[in-house]
Amino acid sequence: MAESYPFLPVSNHSNYTPLPDERQSGESPARDGRGSKKVFLMIFSGLFLIALLAALTDTNKVSTELPKQTSGNENVTSVTSTRPESLQPASRSKAAGVSEKANLAVGLKDFGWNNSMLSWQRTAFHFQPEKNWMNDPNGPLFYRGWYHFFYQYNPNGAVWGDIVWGHAVSRDLIHWLHLPLAMVADQWYDENGVWTGSATVLPDGKIVMLYTGSTNESVQVQNLAYPADHNDPLLLNWIKYSGNPVIVPPPGVGAKDFRDPTTAWLTSEGKWRITIGSKVNRTGIALIYDTEDFINYEFAGQILHAVPSTGMWECVDFYPVSNTTEIGLDTSSSGPDVKHVVKVSLDDTRHDHYAIGTYNDKTGNWYPDNSEIDVGIGIRYDYGVFYASKTFYDQMRARRVLWSWIGESDSEAADVMKGWASLQGIPRTILLDTKTGSNLLQWPVEEVEKLRLRSQKFKKVKVKPGSVVPLDIEAATQVCILKFWRFK
Ligand SMILES: *[C@@H]1O[C@H](CO)[C@@H](O)[C@H](O)[C@H]1NC(C)=O
Ligand SMILES: *[C@@H]1O[C@H](CO)[C@@H](O)[C@H](O)[C@H]1NC(C)=O
Ligand SMILES: *[C@@H]1O[C@H](CO)[C@@H](O)[C@H](O)[C@H]1NC(C)=O
Ligand SMILES: *[C@@H]1O[C@H](CO)[C@@H](O)[C@H](O)[C@H]1NC(C)=O
Ligand SMILES: *[C@@H]1O[C@H](CO)[C@@H](O)[C@H](O)[C@H]1NC(C)=O
Repeated sequence: MAESYPFLPVSNHSNYTPLPDERQSGESPARDGRGSKKVFLMIFSGLFLIALLAALTDTNKVSTELPKQTSGNENVTSVTSTRPESLQPASRSKAAGVSEKANLAVGLKDFGWNNSMLSWQRTAFHFQPEKNWMNDPNGPLFYRGWYHFFYQYNPNGAVWGDIVWGHAVSRDLIHWLHLPLAMVADQWYDENGVWTGSATVLPDGKIVMLYTGSTNESVQVQNLAYPADHNDPLLLNWIKYSGNPVIVPPPGVGAKDFRDPTTAWLTSEGKWRITIGSKVNRTGIALIYDTEDFINYEFAGQILHAVPSTGMWECVDFYPVSNTTEIGLDTSSSGPDVKHVVKVSLDDTRHDHYAIGTYNDKTGNWYPDNSEIDVGIGIRYDYGVFYASKTFYDQMRARRVLWSWIGESDSEAADVMKGWASLQGIPRTILLDTKTGSNLLQWPVEEVEKLRLRSQKFKKVKVKPGSVVPLDIEAATQVCILKFWRFK
């Protein structure tokens, strides 16, 4: 494996001493929860359905039929649950214009989906590997003409597990070339998974990658990796630093509550600073580490921020936004016209929340502008399925770009049948809304417009509340809709 780290000064690195497992009992191991979420969703939907049925019964309006949108395919009539047959909504098929995910409620008779019927769900231009499970975006960056995208990937199946780093490159963030795995679980410090991490582009153009490894003892540690050949624009080969891990959980932090290092930014002292998500009891926290060489780290118990009752913070993101211009900023930018965004992915709810505030370089603390919408309790990037997001600064086009994992809501059984699970959202350009100063603006990267082959305009279409307005767009497999509203 790795010799010494060729781009940075090498110094002695203290050996890793395994820490006792400080995990609170009753908590599930972090990433495993991603697998069990679907079960929870299914149960929740089932409970909701039962509650709905109960509500219908209570009001004496129960009929032998369910609301129209949950019934339909009279071809599927056999029912296995003990509930009265008449109250069983039938699972719907593709013919009804829905996907398997519309049939999540407990006790529903499965429609006879097979893989060829599910394959229509594959996306045409969102990022997806050819097959198997994918989750968090990792280490996005622009290097020598190529956008690089790494991702949490299971090479062995369509469910979470055996996580390694998938890798792809693109010229335009839309069309992708799939490359060999960038990093696999081949060291004791990442034997249980090469988990999420971030890239930092150094001032000389070189790249360092920090990522979380789950060790042979399932301790979450932070590891350093770097490209084997900086002259290779595709960055095909990666070297793990021989002194890994470079950071282990500090005292008081659970061995399984310490993950997802961010991109580093420069302090006014000229050191690199990163933050890593964790929790103390139910308080979500982001710890701060300073380093000069990405090998040795200083930690004096500083935190970037903490919010009670938000639980484990995964995939923390921290970046500057301009409050005067419409260009993205390098992660190290600071100054009077700069606000700072903190984003956390809440492990408990699987939602990505952000807040806008002010960062103090001296103390390393960040303060929300409005504590009532502090990070984790206020605004979200997206109110659909959208998690574990990460931004990067695109130095080529001076913009900040947001990636996010879209875990869909298919059942695990459907994922296995499909042979793949999850996609990534279309990358979005992120700016501060300078009109309000209180929220971010997101827009799909402009390159997405290259996908438009032809267009049709519909003018003076009146849309009344609750109305359905059919538009004749002829046959199309993908439609992009732009709406310009005029309110009267
Ligand atoms: C039932 O199956 C028949 C034959 O496969 C099909 O023509 C019909 O449309 C189906 N009905 C519904 C409601 O899906
Ligand atoms: C999947 O089901 C459809 C509809 O029943 C059928 O036409 C098709 O042949 C099936 N495909 C496979 C691979 O079983
Ligand atoms: C994990 O790996 C470390 C370093 O090689 C070793 O000292 C330790 O015994 C291993 N633990 C287990 C449970 O194998
Ligand atoms: C965490 O909870 C335990 C048990 O309630 C308590 O003893 C401890 O002081 C708490 N730790 C912090 C940092 O609040
Ligand atoms: C930009 O943010 C800074 C720091 O919060 C603030 O002092 C300044 O007034 C803001 N400028 C504008 C134009 O909103």
